[in-house]
Amino acid sequence: MCGIAGYIGKNRACPILIDGLRRLEYRGYDSAGFALAEDGGVVILKAVGRVEELEKQVGERDFLGTAGIAHTRWATHGKPSKENAHPHVDCRQEIFLVHNGIIENYKELKESLKKRGHRFSSETDSEVIAHLIEEYYGEDSLEEAVRKALLKATGTYGIAVLSQREPNKIVAARKGSPLILGVGKDEFIIASDVAAIIRYTDRVVYLNDGEMVVIGRDGYEVSNLERTRIDKRVDRIDWSVEKAEKQGFAYFMLKEIFEQPEAIKNAIRGRVLSADGNVKLGGLDDVRERLREINRLVIVACGTAYHAGLVGKYMLEEYAGIRADIEYGSEFRYRKPILDSKTAVLAVSQSGETADTLAAVKEAKNKGALALGIVNAVGSTIARETDAGIYNHAGPEIGVASTKAFTSQLSILALLTVFLGRQREMSCVTGKRILNELAEIERHIKTILKQAKEIEKIARKYSGFNNFLYLGRKYNYPIALEGALKIKEIAYVHAEGYPFGEMKHGSIALIDENFPSIAIVTKDSVYEKTISGVQEIKARGGKIIAIATSGDKEIKKLVDDVIYIPKTLEMLTPMISVVPLQLLAYYFGVQKGLDVDKPRNLAKSVTVE
Ligand code: M6R
Repeated sequence: MCGIAGYIGKNRACPILIDGLRRLEYRGYDSAGFALAEDGGVVILKAVGRVEELEKQVGERDFLGTAGIAHTRWATHGKPSKENAHPHVDCRQEIFLVHNGIIENYKELKESLKKRGHRFSSETDSEVIAHLIEEYYGEDSLEEAVRKALLKATGTYGIAVLSQREPNKIVAARKGSPLILGVGKDEFIIASDVAAIIRYTDRVVYLNDGEMVVIGRDGYEVSNLERTRIDKRVDRIDWSVEKAEKQGFAYFMLKEIFEQPEAIKNAIRGRVLSADGNVKLGGLDDVRERLREINRLVIVACGTAYHAGLVGKYMLEEYAGIRADIEYGSEFRYRKPILDSKTAVLAVSQSGETADTLAAVKEAKNKGALALGIVNAVGSTIARETDAGIYNHAGPEIGVASTKAFTSQLSILALLTVFLGRQREMSCVTGKRILNELAEIERHIKTILKQAKEIEKIARKYSGFNNFLYLGRKYNYPIALEGALKIKEIAYVHAEGYPFGEMKHGSIALIDENFPSIAIVTKDSVYEKTISGVQEIKARGGKIIAIATSGDKEIKKLVDDVIYIPKTLEMLTPMISVVPLQLLAYYFGVQKGLDVDKPRNLAKSVTVE
């Protein structure tokens, strides 16, 4: 995810673009840049880091230009650097382009453009579009050249293009990435999100996939790539600036919970080889043969990522037939872990900057183990330190409580299980089964999200309790841990996550009518055993909220409240059983009037030991 802003009108563009980027910064913040039509030419400025770094570069400079495009980047292809920052330019430095999305066929396009003499200066997929436009920008107008270029590109894009030859227009187009046109009085703003527009106008045109807009100083025209003109309705936004940044969600946490279907889709996209019941993980290509020889995997992670790793251990041992251990990053290097060249250490980290996890990676490398990563933040330290890895592509996670990164990590761990399993004993049929079920998870999560209102009511009903026991068995044990962590960090409510079978060895002593339990009792291989645990709690007067499989009528008779989730393959159940627990924690926190995006004492990325 990146943020795009463009301005053309009667006012100076620079401050409007910088303000727009600030409001879009949640979409990505590893580098930023803009291109401004100025003095008959185009000025381009880029900075690595946040938008404020770009602002520092602007400094006292008094840009007068009244048309420009800008971008704040969340790196996907190529590390965060000035070269990879947008805008990108063609060979003649005439065309300036900002892009959000992924051009899937960029490698082929780049190769053929190189053969035609184009010189590239970045590692990005985006730059190919600038050069493609250049190919057609002879006799054609800018919009015609953009149209022809986009017909060659596959994947997703939201783009804005400025040309030195035609500085009084901006051409923008979208497919799969959002673009909204703000229609002011004698001025127009194009942006990825209304957050960048709302200060200037509340009148907007929402572009649809396949649409292109040519914005001039006096008006705009929308058409499709087949040149058919489209009359668009002008809508009014009734959101506050604050809300617009969160796309109408009250908090980033809620937005990110609702983004999970998309995050999972992005984690899987392009990686499944359906016919072979196998997966392709490009980031592991270089170590593919070494992975065949690995006989042990040690997963290292912290917090929520640790819980994902614990699910991964269960998946890998059951289906890939490889010994898998899980370690807290903070513990790993302070004991004497036994590692050798047949061990791979897999760091799981959303931010890629967690100091404890990073230290574990370094320890692993020192001891000759292969270091792998599952990381969301492209170009982060862990991504760079590991020998090979897999990116989540979940987009920026802004809420301090990790939600969409968790389910994305589980998706990747499922893919890795198939990958390593197929290198070993896993059959094609089993591989296909896992992948088919994985493709359905997105839909299952959407079904659960529709129950948000009922989950909110349950949270209200239990809001007077200050202690909870979260219980789950086998694949749902890590989810009990994760559910408890979520409510602790978001609602400051004490909770313990526990393996259901362990409860009778001690913590059952806590149970009474004032100590409710959240029991994950999905229909799986341990269902009967879990039900025994439910009965043990009831026999002691404990209240129970159950997370159960749709259609399980019996459970209703045993517990106080039920949240139903769809049935899936047992190893994938955590990807959906966690969602009601995220929502419960969210509503508990909100009902207590807390800022769930910024819980006290916490930071999004823990870069200290
Ligand atoms: O960026 P990482 O995934 O490495 O972060 C690990 C933990 O700090 C993180 O998951 C933390 O526990 C979250 N606040 C949980 O919601």
